Amino acid sequence: MDPEAPASSRFVAALILGGLVVGVSALAFHLGLATPRPTPPYTWWWRRRKKKTRPVRVYMDGCFDMMHYGHCNALRQARALGDELVVGVVSDDEITANKGPPVTPLHERLIMVRAIKWVDEVIPDAPYAITEDFMNKLFTEYNIDYIIHGDDPCLLPDGTDAYALAKKAGRYKQIKRTEGVSSTDIVGRMLLCVRERSIGDSHNHSSLQRQFSHGHSQKVEEGGSRSGTRISHFLPTSRRIVQFSNGKGPGPDARIVYIDGAFDLFHAGHVEILRIARELGDFLLVGIHTDQTVSATRGHHRPIMNLHERSLSVLACRYVDEVIIGAPWEISKDMITTFNISLVVHGTIAENMDFRKDESNPYAVPMAMGIYQQLESPLDITTSTIIKRIVANHEAYQKRNEKKEASERKYYEGKTYVSGD
Ligand SMILES: *[C@@H]1O[C@H](CO)[C@@H](O)[C@H](O)[C@H]1NC(C)=O
Ligand SMILES: *[C@@H]1O[C@H](CO)[C@@H](O)[C@H](O)[C@H]1NC(C)=O
Repeated sequence: MDPEAPASSRFVAALILGGLVVGVSALAFHLGLATPRPTPPYTWWWRRRKKKTRPVRVYMDGCFDMMHYGHCNALRQARALGDELVVGVVSDDEITANKGPPVTPLHERLIMVRAIKWVDEVIPDAPYAITEDFMNKLFTEYNIDYIIHGDDPCLLPDGTDAYALAKKAGRYKQIKRTEGVSSTDIVGRMLLCVRERSIGDSHNHSSLQRQFSHGHSQKVEEGGSRSGTRISHFLPTSRRIVQFSNGKGPGPDARIVYIDGAFDLFHAGHVEILRIARELGDFLLVGIHTDQTVSATRGHHRPIMNLHERSLSVLACRYVDEVIIGAPWEISKDMITTFNISLVVHGTIAENMDFRKDESNPYAVPMAMGIYQQLESPLDITTSTIIKRIVANHEAYQKRNEKKEASERKYYEGKTYVSGD
């Protein structure tokens, strides 16, 4: 990176922390991260070389249940080790057999994985553990060059390394696990959220909650006895945001579509509405509400994921061109002018559909300008749906996460520095 980078990064971090409206693609430009292209004398050689070599195809698999930006980052890193990324998504039956029923059914997990901008192809029925047969199929049928996995160990039920075969064949590459996020952690935050609303409810989530509550540590009551109650390890850096962004602004005469929301626990319903919104123009700008705005409209324990986490999930989606990190609740005339917004859209399935009854309708300005459109949401899922699903089979989760938490703790205890992005 250029010698100015640290100063630039500090500048960027200051902007983000200041809660300013920041165009992420502009940041990428500022940091000079646009793909470097050779200068004229070498262009011919470069193009020829690019054309002649076969693309390097890499494979990564996973359950992608309760997908979060940690998964997205792994896929980004995997994609960077080759030219084309093929992702194996484990079937519902395989997940159920190996660790209990998934929260997200396969069709929704597929929508989510396919929407990640670093994914080129998806294999929808990957086995839970790579068998020799499947590995050979990957190499011969799918032309895979390398199998990729994170630096956390992946053991088969018999205690052997799941990737031993690929390693022996010299077709294995490792990526660094994303700091600071795990599904266990996210489930803990959700249970806190449910607990708050169901005091006096016949369900008793307290033991379960104690087990999971690493998220917002000040809310943990009896949980204090747990040694080392973990708060989120996620430390957002300006570089991560730049890595996730497209690095491009709208082209000349682009029709800019704007959609805003919390985008908490980014799910298939979000993906589908973003896809439809993107089809209405040339550039999709997504406004992500601040944590304060989300708390004020949806309750204390919301959002489950903080502003930076939510921004990364949205940025990883291929239908999104740019995000506003901390968008205002009300869309002003000035904002429409600043971003040259042609159309403001909102889905029919959302947690707050009674905004029109409010005295201050946040969409009053675009409505008056005749540039507001309501979009039929293709899927009937909200963040609350996801939370309800988890709570509905919390018994299964409890067992499953006891094991998982133990292995996670072991990972963090034994963790050492691994270089890489
Ligand atoms: C909830 O469960 C915990 C432990 O499992 C127990 O100590 C507590 O008394 C229960 N509370 C209620 C209201 O049932
Ligand atoms: C603003 O958006 C419109 C499309 O709605 C486009 O025709 C126009 O060129 C844009 N303005 C600029 C300065 O890009």
